[in-house]
Amino acid sequence: MNAPLRIGIVGIGAMGLPIARNLRSRGHTILVRDIRADAEREARTLGMQVCESPCLLAQACDIVIVVVVDAAQIESVLFGDAGVASAHAGATTVMLCSTIAPNDTAAFAQRLAAHGIATIDAPISGGPARALAGTMSMMVAAPAATLGPWQPLLEQMAAKRFDLGQKIGDAAKAKLVNNLLAGTNLVAGAEALALAEKLGLDAQRMFEIVNASSGASWIFEDRMRRALADDFEPRAAAHILTKDLGLATSLAAEARQPTPLGDAALARFRETVDRGWAALDDAAVLKSYRKPAAAVSAAHVPIIDVAALVDRPGSLDAVAQQIGAACRAHGFFYIVGHGVDEALCQRLESLSHSFFALPVERKAAVRMALGGRAWRGWFDLGGELTSGRPDWKEGLYLGAELPDDDPRVRAGWPLHGRNLFPAELPALRDCVLAYLDALTQLGHALMRGLALSLGLDAGYFAEHGTRDPLVLFRIFNYPSRPATPDVRWGVGEHTDYGLLTILRQDDVGGLEIKTTSGWVAAPPVPGSFVCNIGDMLERMTGGLYKSTPHRVALNISGRDRISLPFFFDPNFAARIESVPRLAAHADDDSANRWDHTSVHTFEGSYGDYLLGKIGKVFPDLKQQVLDTPG
Ligand code: OGA
Ligand code: NI
Repeated sequence: MNAPLRIGIVGIGAMGLPIARNLRSRGHTILVRDIRADAEREARTLGMQVCESPCLLAQACDIVIVVVVDAAQIESVLFGDAGVASAHAGATTVMLCSTIAPNDTAAFAQRLAAHGIATIDAPISGGPARALAGTMSMMVAAPAATLGPWQPLLEQMAAKRFDLGQKIGDAAKAKLVNNLLAGTNLVAGAEALALAEKLGLDAQRMFEIVNASSGASWIFEDRMRRALADDFEPRAAAHILTKDLGLATSLAAEARQPTPLGDAALARFRETVDRGWAALDDAAVLKSYRKPAAAVSAAHVPIIDVAALVDRPGSLDAVAQQIGAACRAHGFFYIVGHGVDEALCQRLESLSHSFFALPVERKAAVRMALGGRAWRGWFDLGGELTSGRPDWKEGLYLGAELPDDDPRVRAGWPLHGRNLFPAELPALRDCVLAYLDALTQLGHALMRGLALSLGLDAGYFAEHGTRDPLVLFRIFNYPSRPATPDVRWGVGEHTDYGLLTILRQDDVGGLEIKTTSGWVAAPPVPGSFVCNIGDMLERMTGGLYKSTPHRVALNISGRDRISLPFFFDPNFAARIESVPRLAAHADDDSANRWDHTSVHTFEGSYGDYLLGKIGKVFPDLKQQVLDTPG
């Protein structure tokens, strides 16, 4: 028997508590700390000593074992008020058992060293039962001198130890590789069982078949056993594996190693979390397969019949009320009853497919670099940077067709002028122009609805910048082609810049919206447009209406996705001013925005705002085209 130690354990959850019980049963004195009072109560009944802060705990013991959820919690345990680092004597060593990014582990170790505290990088795996028995696995990285005195303790904690060498962070890497595999494996198992259920097979029987056959895996057996018993009591909560898959795929992206299966598994877990099952066991990923998201997302993104706004029968008040509610919630809604000809939309989609199928040289004949200040033309995959990273889409930038003698074009206004249409597809030109006409009319109608929804005269926005709107339009193609490792999204998280975006999406899907309860899908709804409001409407309403971040997932459908975002914006020269009664809602939202700027402090014309934004997503082109006198 080894000499009894005084061991501090911070985080006595699913893994921390069984670790504590195991070590106590081996004769050590256990001191614990958790942010949850009920966890601390339970520890007390088990004969453990509860400390009021990580600092007091560190002062009273030889080593601190940290088993909290994530790096943010470790930060506060180690370096927060009354953190471990503020202890004056006591623990000489901290053992980090959580799953976090290797860089974070290394950074924590460096900062602890400045306080004279050594670090052991020691992530663990195997589940609560093995933690209790001392038979879990542990990946260990630390300098030999740090590790020496603790070897007997490590043996008692984890029967299976894997020495990853002396470099702090290498054990964290190994843990993420394992969890990437565990996560994809679990999702694959859920997918298979959901299919069995759909095919009318008995799921329990299928579970037994897999366990005795080539599809078997430890995590399949462990998690699907519980899922089939409808037992989602968390042993490992879904949000934790979601975090781990996020860390693992980010690490892979940094290493420029593609992980398409990991990305797909992460998307399933995000959906599981977004749908309210974050705190359930990670086996709950099966639930997301049983009940597809489309059925629930309508609760987040309402479908509004806007017939009354386009001079068709219906109640204007009812439409205005629904639009107002949607805009105050997240600024996203579907519209139906909009009067735009479905055949026109389908023709445009089909011509768009034809355009993107042209050989690269033909598309390059209308590339953006040739569009000049009008900012029109084709850009290739990866050509646009949203949130500072390349998107996995190609696109054709278009807008209201203005002849050379238009006064705005003559005055050299950026973003105004002629479109670049491909010579080999003459029908595309006519179709785009007809679509722009139809959508511009619809835009005016929706702005009337938005004004009414704010209790303003229907013509308010026309009088404040949209009588002669800036109309920009894009045709995007999201190819179903594996992305390069630095790419995470079809379009990264962003908000739209102007007043109102009217998006036609085909039936592939992938649009996601950041609601207050997490990311939700905005799946295709036949015959509808997705509308969302942009930064200028948030600015004008003082934040009452939300310009909500959204993104598009990587397309893994096997088919190209065409989307047609139409931007109905204030006139380029319009000064952006608050709607008088509404300014009071404004708060500084910069922390939530990817570029950390607040719309509410913006003063100036819409053109100023737009050019600032465009410069960030097309840095090179901006320099070439806009920063030279026109
Ligand atoms: C955009 C946008 C979404 C899509 O262009 O601003 O968010 O589905 N597009 O293409
Ligand atoms: Ni957008």
